[in-house]
Amino acid sequence: MELAGLGSWVVIGNPQAIQELFSQDSKFDIGRGNALAEPLLGSNSLMLMDGERHRRERKLLMPPFHGERLQTYAQQIGLITEQVASQWQMGQPFVTRTAMQKISLEVILQIVFGLSEGERYQQLKPLLTDWIDMTDSPLRSSMLFFRFLQQDWGKWTPWGRMKRRQRQIHDLLQAEIESRRTRGNKESVDVLSLMMAARDENGQAMADEELRDELLTILFAGHETTATTLAWAFYQIHQHLDVHEKLLKQLDSLGKNSSPMEIAKLPYLTAVCQETLRMYPVLPGIFPRITKSPVKIAGYFFEAETTLMPSIYLVHYREDLYPNAQQFKPERFLERQYSPSEYFPFGGGSRRCLGYALAQLEMKLVLATILSKYQLALAEAQPVKLQRRGFTLAPAGGVRMVMTGKRAKSAIEQGEKTKDISQVA
Ligand code: HEM
Repeated sequence: MELAGLGSWVVIGNPQAIQELFSQDSKFDIGRGNALAEPLLGSNSLMLMDGERHRRERKLLMPPFHGERLQTYAQQIGLITEQVASQWQMGQPFVTRTAMQKISLEVILQIVFGLSEGERYQQLKPLLTDWIDMTDSPLRSSMLFFRFLQQDWGKWTPWGRMKRRQRQIHDLLQAEIESRRTRGNKESVDVLSLMMAARDENGQAMADEELRDELLTILFAGHETTATTLAWAFYQIHQHLDVHEKLLKQLDSLGKNSSPMEIAKLPYLTAVCQETLRMYPVLPGIFPRITKSPVKIAGYFFEAETTLMPSIYLVHYREDLYPNAQQFKPERFLERQYSPSEYFPFGGGSRRCLGYALAQLEMKLVLATILSKYQLALAEAQPVKLQRRGFTLAPAGGVRMVMTGKRAKSAIEQGEKTKDISQVA
């Protein structure tokens, strides 16, 4: 399709073409296509980089989000979940997405920023919440998409307010980086400490502006997405009694000494998360790929400066891959293996989501912790619809639920978990 002033756009829903595209990522500019996010994240954001700069930055950022490092964060995720869920009152409805957002914000503050108490934490938390919430309605989201709405006419205009918040956040993050540098942070295992200690091939560390913009990028990319997916998971699990029962059976079968990593490996829990991510990809498409020179994909030639848009939605709803695609059916992931171009909620190629492993671990531990301790029910009978929220798609109304009881048998005990984690880490 031709979009006025924006050149040619091609939406792709064919797995073969998407596979070819993922394997030729170096032929595209991708960061350039994310320019809309620049006023929000700053020019040193991984999402906006291309070429060698992107490759270097990803290499520096990857290690804290993978392998054994990730396991050390599991206990914190469980504890944060317990804290948030313990505030629910019997019989009083709550908005699941808001509760999940509290969890995912706290996870990022503690695990990534390394902050869980103290004056700077107290100052940053409300500022970051406010900064994120500025896109909490379709109307407010529109300022992200239209440059003419991005005018700073003082603190009473939405953009002016956003810019003020951003400056305050920048100052606090800068202060945190400097104070760590002076006091040294050899003991810390949070992501910021690891980012500060990382060096590239030339022995070069990340600059302060890079650290600051990447912290905001991780918060921006990682917290809405995980919270929204979890809200959809709770919605579907409580609409399908059979799914709920199977999950509980699997969770109850865990011994008291099971570790978070054992929970993360449970096949049905994994399938429930996979099916939720299939039906509700928070980003309907992956980042646009802009051709740098003419490219041939799946037998088609594309001119330079064509924007290719692989659509997660189109592929995840293909009846040839997912029969009865409108149905929530976790079993399909137990019965069949999907290739990286048939199933890609986290994108692919050189841009695959930096936090995909953390997001999946968080989803599983939050679901397992809550479902094994609490009985919940949907507070409203009518189907929940999709609504735009910033760059993502979220459940309209956030999925209202209510606590109806506590479970006598709880598969996961926090005390036991603490012991297990020390063994895993
Ligand atoms: C359910 C949760 C999440 C979903 C569905 C999701 C999805 C995605 C998708 C589709 C992309 C684009 C990939 C592409 O174009 O090929 C992406 C990129 C990214 N995600 Fe996630 N994400 C999630 C959670 C997270 C978390 C927890 C973090 C951070 C801890 C994170 C950080 C990022 C970053 C930094 C990028 C940009 C990567 C790059 O440009 O190289 N995401 N994510």
